[in-house]
This record gives sequence, C-alpha cells and structure tokens, in this order.
Amino acid sequence: MIFSGEFHPFRLPVPDLWLDVFQKIKAMGFTGVSFYVDWGLVEGNPGHVVRDGIWSLDKFFQAATEAGIYLIARPGPYINAETTAGGIPGWVLRMNATVRSDDPEYLNATSNYMSTLGSIIEKAQITHGGPVILVQPENEFTTWPGVTDFPSQMNKEYMADVENQLLDAGITVPLIVNDNEVEGYWAPGSGLGAVDIYGIDAYPMRYDCELIQSNIAINEDYRGANYAVKGANPSVWPTYKFPHNWQTLHEQQSPTTPFAIAEFQGGSGEGWGGVLEEMCGELLNEEAVRVVYKNNYSFGVKIFNIYMTYGGTNWGNLGYMNGYTSYDYGAAITEERGIWREKFSEEKLEANFLKVSPAYLTATPGIGVNGSYGAPASIAVTPLLGNGTHTNFYVVRQADFSSTDNTQYTINLPTSIGNVTIPQLGGSLTLYGRDSKFHVTDYDLGGINLIYSSAEILTWARGAGSTRVLILYGGAGERHEFALARHLGNPTVTEGSGISIKQKGSTSVIQWEVKPDRRIVRIGDLEVYLLWRNDAYNYWPLEVTAAEPIGNFSSPSKELILVKAGYLMRSASLCGENICLTGDVNATTEVELISSPAKNVRGILFNGEKLKTSTTGTKTLSATVDYNPPRLDIPVLEDLSWKYLDTLPEIATSYDDSRWINCSKTSTNNPRELSTPTNLYAMDYGFHTGSLIYRGHFTANGQESNLWLNVSGGTGFSHSVWLNDMFLGSWTGSSANSTVIQDIPITEDLAIGRSYVLTILIDNMGQDEEAPGTDVIKFPKGILNYELSGHDQSDITWKVTGNLGGEQYQDLIRGPLNEGSMYAERQGYHYPKPPNADWKVSNPVKTGLAAPGVGFYTTSFKLEIPDGWDVPMSFVFNSSANTHNVQGGPNYRCQLFVNGYQFGKYINNLGPQTSYPVPEGILNYSGTNYVAITLWAQDAEGAQLGGFSLVPTAVIRSGYSKPGLAPQPSWTRRPGAY
Ligand code: GAL
Repeated sequence: MIFSGEFHPFRLPVPDLWLDVFQKIKAMGFTGVSFYVDWGLVEGNPGHVVRDGIWSLDKFFQAATEAGIYLIARPGPYINAETTAGGIPGWVLRMNATVRSDDPEYLNATSNYMSTLGSIIEKAQITHGGPVILVQPENEFTTWPGVTDFPSQMNKEYMADVENQLLDAGITVPLIVNDNEVEGYWAPGSGLGAVDIYGIDAYPMRYDCELIQSNIAINEDYRGANYAVKGANPSVWPTYKFPHNWQTLHEQQSPTTPFAIAEFQGGSGEGWGGVLEEMCGELLNEEAVRVVYKNNYSFGVKIFNIYMTYGGTNWGNLGYMNGYTSYDYGAAITEERGIWREKFSEEKLEANFLKVSPAYLTATPGIGVNGSYGAPASIAVTPLLGNGTHTNFYVVRQADFSSTDNTQYTINLPTSIGNVTIPQLGGSLTLYGRDSKFHVTDYDLGGINLIYSSAEILTWARGAGSTRVLILYGGAGERHEFALARHLGNPTVTEGSGISIKQKGSTSVIQWEVKPDRRIVRIGDLEVYLLWRNDAYNYWPLEVTAAEPIGNFSSPSKELILVKAGYLMRSASLCGENICLTGDVNATTEVELISSPAKNVRGILFNGEKLKTSTTGTKTLSATVDYNPPRLDIPVLEDLSWKYLDTLPEIATSYDDSRWINCSKTSTNNPRELSTPTNLYAMDYGFHTGSLIYRGHFTANGQESNLWLNVSGGTGFSHSVWLNDMFLGSWTGSSANSTVIQDIPITEDLAIGRSYVLTILIDNMGQDEEAPGTDVIKFPKGILNYELSGHDQSDITWKVTGNLGGEQYQDLIRGPLNEGSMYAERQGYHYPKPPNADWKVSNPVKTGLAAPGVGFYTTSFKLEIPDGWDVPMSFVFNSSANTHNVQGGPNYRCQLFVNGYQFGKYINNLGPQTSYPVPEGILNYSGTNYVAITLWAQDAEGAQLGGFSLVPTAVIRSGYSKPGLAPQPSWTRRPGAY
C-alpha cells in the first residue's frame, strides 16, 4: 500500500531538516510522501530555473532515500496548494494566453520549467534506484464547483501536452491524476486522456475551522468564503460531503486501476481574520481520522495521500491571498515539526496496521449496510472479503457518521470455525462516540491464524525463531475478544490480570476490558499485547534496513523491530549484540524491546549512547533514557538594542523618484480592462510580490477636495496614502476585501500651480488560486482606478515600484518572492549585517512610531543551543494592550525577517496569527542572528508593538541530524538600488 503524506519542501526552506520530516512520516508507518514543486518560486525570472540551495530537489530525494520514503512528484505546472497564483510565475500572468490552456504562448512558457523538472525527476525514478514512483501532471484539472459544462469544456489537448512534457523528459513511472469531482475524468478508458492511474481528491470535513459548520451545504463557493451556514452547533460535522459509495464508483470509473485517493483531507488552512491553524487540527482531529479515514479503507483504498501531513510555512510571500503565514494546516506534524497532536498517533496506528496486512490489498470491498452482520441498525458494517486469502476485514462505524452516541453492538461474522457472534463470552462491543473499528477474521500472523479479533491490530511481527508478537488495542473501557485454535497452546497471562479465557470447542477465546495497564497473554509461540489505545501510541514498529536496493524503503518482506518508548522512535537496527535505536524523548522515558528478529540481544544503544539495561518480569530488555533539559539562554528581544531607519523616505518632499519605473503602458493583456489612461497594474511592470508603492505627480489647481481610489491588494490587504508628507488616511484591511473603493477628503488647500505627489503604499497579499480556464489568478494588484476632484485622470502621471528588479529579482538564494517595495527591502537591509552604524537607536516595542509611516528596526543576538536538542522556536507578537481583532484597535502590520528570510506577516488589527515559528537553520542555533521588522503604522497616532519575544515551543532530546544553515548571505551594496 502506498500510504503517503503530503509535504512541500519549499515550505521548509532548510534542506537539512527534510530528513527529520521524512523520518517522522516513516515512523507513522507511512511508505510515501507526495510533494509539489512551485514553478513560481523556481522560475521567477523567465528562462532561469533555479535548482540548487534551498530549492534543490536532489537533496529532497537523498533525504527521502535515507529515510526510506517513496515519492509522488507533482510538478504542476499549476499546483494550487494555497500558493500565490497556484504556482504560476508572475511573468506568465502578464501574457495574453489563458493559463492552463493549450495556447502555444502559455505552453512555450511552461516548456523550460517542465523539461528541467522533468529531467530532475526522471533521474530520481525508482527505475534508476531513486525514490520517485509516481508523477502527477497538472492538478485537479477537472471541474471545480461553479464551473459547468465539463467534461466538454475540458481541454484534453492541454492535459495531453503536459503529459507529453513529462514523457518527453523520460518519465516512465506511472502517471497519476487527481480528480476533485470524483467523476472518473482522465481515468484510463474515459476517452479523455492517458494517465495510468486514476485518483480522486476529497475534503469531506470542508474548510471551516471555526467549528461552526452546519450540515447544510449552501453558499459553498469554489474555495474561500462561505462554506456553510454559520452559527450552528459547534459539534456538528459537515457530513454532507461524506462518501458512501466510493467502492461502487471506483468499479464504474476506473476498474483497471488501484483505488487511489491522491489527496484526502488532513486538516485545512485558514485566512486573515480567521482562526488559528490549531483549530484546523481540531476540525480534523483524531476522531475524524478514525471515522473518515477508516471509511476510506472500507472502500479498499490502495494509494492514500493525506494532504497535508506536514504543512510548514508560507514564508517570503509564497502563499495565496486567502492564507496567512502559517501553513501548519492542523496537520499530523505541526509547523514546528512537532508530533504532539493525537492524530499523529492515530494515523500511526492505522498505517502500521495496513502495512502488516497484505490481505487488505487483495480483499474485495463490499457495500456498507446499516444493521448488517447481526449488528443493530445504528451500526454500519462494511466488509472487505478475502480474495485469494481467508482473511476478511469488517469496518464498523456509527450508521450516522457523526453520532456521538455510545452504541453497543454484537456482530455475527463468518469464520473458519463457522459463524460466530462476537463477543462469545458475554457482554457487547461498544463504539464510544465518534469512532470506527476494524474487526478481522482469519487474519494471518505469519502462519498462525487469528480466528477473529474485535480489538484492533497495531502490528504483528516475527521475533527470533518461531515466535510472533501481536499488538492489539482498544479504547478505554471497551470490551474486546479474540480467538485462536486451541492446539496452539494454553493461553497464559504473563502480565496483568482481569482476563477471561475460555476453551470453546477447538478454540481458546480471550476476553478483556481495556484498562490503562497493559496485559500480555502467551499462547504457544505467540505473545499478545492487550493495550489501551493511548498506550499503543508509545509502541513503534520499526523496519530493519535491508540490502540495497531496498535499503530503508518499505517492502512486504521487511523484518520489524518492535520497541516501546515515548515521543518518537526514528530507526532501529541490529548492531552486533545490541540493538541501535535513534529517536527523541520529551520526558524521562523507558525504552523496552518488545520484539526483535535476532536472538540474544544484549544491549540497547540510543542515539549512539549505550544504555544501562535490565530484564525484569516479562520485559526482555529495557532501559531508561534520561531527560535533563539544558538551561536555554533565550534573549529578551524587547531589551536588546535596536536600530531604526525610516523606510518610507518617499513621503519626504526632497525624495527623488527619477529611477522609478514610469507607468507609461497604455494597454494590458489582462482580462480586466483598464479603467485608467495608463496601465497601473503592478504585474504588468514585473512586480508580483510583497508591498507596492505608487507615486502620482500632478500640478495643483486649487480644486482638490477629494481623492477617489479603487485599490487591489488581495484579501486582508491595506494601503496608506500621503499627499506630499501629509497623511491622508489608510484602508486598514478586512478579512473579506481583496479590493476596496475609498473616498478620501483632502482638507488642506493646495497651492495653485505647484507640483504635488501622492504616495500610496499597498500591501500585496498574493494572487488567488483558480479553476482551470478562468484566469482568475490574473486579477491585477495595484491601483485599479482613481479620480482627483477638479482633474482629468490624465493630469496625474504615475510611477511604481515593487521589489528591486522585479522579475530580475536580487536575491537568488531566497528566491523571487521574498522581498517587497519598501526602501529597506530594496536596499537589502533585511539581510544580515546591514550598514546600520549611523542609524538611530529606537525600540519597536518601547518606542515605536509616533506618526503614520513605516519604520525598519533591526537587532541581533546570539543563540547557543546544545547539540542533541531540538528546540523549535517562535517569534511572538504579543499585543496584550493592543489585542488584534479588536475593532478600532491600533492598526499596524509588520513583516518579520530572520537572517534575511521573511518569515512572517503580522496584522495587528486582523490576526489571527501572533506566533511565527522559524526553523533551526533559518535561525542560527550556534551563532549570531539578524532580525529585522518593518512596522507599518496606519493610524494618525502611529504605532508600537504590544510585545515581541522569542519563545521555545518544545525542548526535545533528539536523534535528528543537526541541520546546517540554509544559505544566508549578508548585506552587500545593491547596484542601482533606489
Ligand atoms: C486541493 C488542491 C490542493 C490544495 C487543497 C486544499 O483541492 O489540489 O493543492 O489546494 O485542495 O488545501
């Protein structure tokens, strides 16, 4: 089974940390990772595809190989993924051609990227010993809600062109497609295209992380705004999208390919003024994982990818306009690479079970029927019946998916000893609230037949000689039962108590109620662990490295070492007489060897250190890993010395903008027609990222009483307007507006005949995503329209700037999107070691700005984090006095730069994000760090930060490989900077 997690390398720009994420995904029992490549990030400058440094896929492939993770490559060219313009570079948006069409102008634009990426991926295919096993052309090139007339509208030619680009580059592994409409589009035999494997995409929990969904699917727009009626009961799951019939659909739509879910919901993103990503983790919590993922297994899914499994960060303006900086996604692995969400552990139980259950892959999924197999009508049972094996699987859930009832049931299942009503020894089984379970019959434990088990299997393994270990688990208070043939031996309880054992005919039947304490029963060669689910979370099935070419990759023939530990186990190997483990602890932890294929293991090494082992009771070998966290010397940022530079010199009367670009174009290719005599779309002048500044020059005639503006910046954007050095006002943003029309009174009389200049600073939140063929991603940013009273539009001549160089961007290391229009950014002062000797001393928290404008603040500090400790840290903007989301509260917004990387946009008046994780490797943990903040005060009173601190979010004794620094070149003078 390809059990895969989505993880985007570009959202964690520290290549040395990719191994850590891969190892965590591998530790969950997954076998694969699916990843996108963001074209807009690697070909910001047309013709120059960057392939090294933080963008190096070769490093990503090496890390995947080292961890033993198969890869599904998704190079687009369109990827969606909550990235700006869905990954289409800005220079492509300027074209006349419809993006994602077979217009030669667009296709030519893609060809350099697709052939370069194609050849990079080609070399990494499994056929050459690499990790890549599948490649996906395009993304959801099917219908989107709101788009009608598919498939007739489908651009088959374009899809074929993208496939051919991949085939021409030598891709020979199967091509997979992701159809978000579950209509069978592009499936082999559909007559539409020629992909090898048909896959679907599904997000049944939808995207409203405020947890106030209702089941009524009204107002569902194509992605962003109103997903459902709000104000309903917070405990209501939006079940209207829950699948009931995917096994039947699959048989109709793509019977010749394995049932594949190329993307299945692992969380969700959130936007400006919304809720924290943590809430998306609640939306799709461990209960949802239990219910909705097991529903997918009941349909017999064979290729299963969870989007996202590690989300990461929308650093450096890479995100689309409806998302904030964090792309944590509420995923199993948090943005800080933490694995403390319970769903991590739940997914680990599920993936590990399927990994050791090959009969699942050949079983024939049946139809789920309420009240079947002798269960009550409140229980739905879906069988997966052995097909060439004797093993049957039964997925049991509440008939009403979202029911929170405690539902008792018995179930009558056919087995090799006839039909059995389970439990046989009295009592009943229970689903406590939102839950779903796998019951198995005639399940093969390497030659030992488990006749049935109501308790779920975490894993089983062959130990030394003919021994086997089986790990069963259940929820607290549940009654469970399993049966084995009597001839295997008399069951004896070797640990714990409270277990009923009865001989029934030719079988031994064992029943127990799940308690926090574990029980162990031995039957001949088989040792069965009976665990409470939350204790099962501490058990780690680890694959023993095999000979090349398998190495660490998963394979059905792999031996397993089973270890009980705590927070994380990464790897296990047999090293001489010892077993060598790598892993992480967040508390003093007992490590216990549960099963090993080698006899006579005498010792345990943990992260290279020999532990003091003992053998007590049933424990063959155990030891304690100490946890003594080091004292961390974290600087108090507010108390550091800060330097300040005015980064809006444009409003000074003496400011000279002669080197700025004139907005002299009089036409556009954009679908939105111009409303102004000259084109003011930033994108048409090559500015696609970060903030924008416009300067409008005119000669006064005394009639200027009002300025009317129509401005576009994307959801959550804002702008501030000055007339010479006079502040006219700001639009401070909302969670809904991506454009705004504003009437600004000009109260002062202007001197007739004198030259004036308007300076308009606009925050650009990124482009939108789109449905194929709509060109929605082209919607322009900048000034859409304006009127100055007493003047013709043509009385004003405009200039514009964005990031220095536009598409010929300056920072070839951090990429094309990392910086915007502000003076300090144009000069590169956000880099380490800016020339700030002569800058004023001023503190953004204690002093701040007394008037509207933008201040640029820099400081530096050292960190010395001892080796062997993984200490994720976040920068926290804490506006206790100036709490965000308070209507009318102080309006200001910030950018955070850490060693030159923009790692946060903070909006005080919208939120919700206040805490910005910055990974080790961007932060230097053994040296000096340069931090810069732009503080944009938008109110007449100015602004200061409510607080600013660096906070460790966890202190983990870790077996990760310590990351080297992502490249972070220091400041050098930028030729031509203005
Ligand atoms: C899918 C899309 C992904 C991502 C996801 C939502 O439909 O393919 O790229 O946008 O939705 O997070």
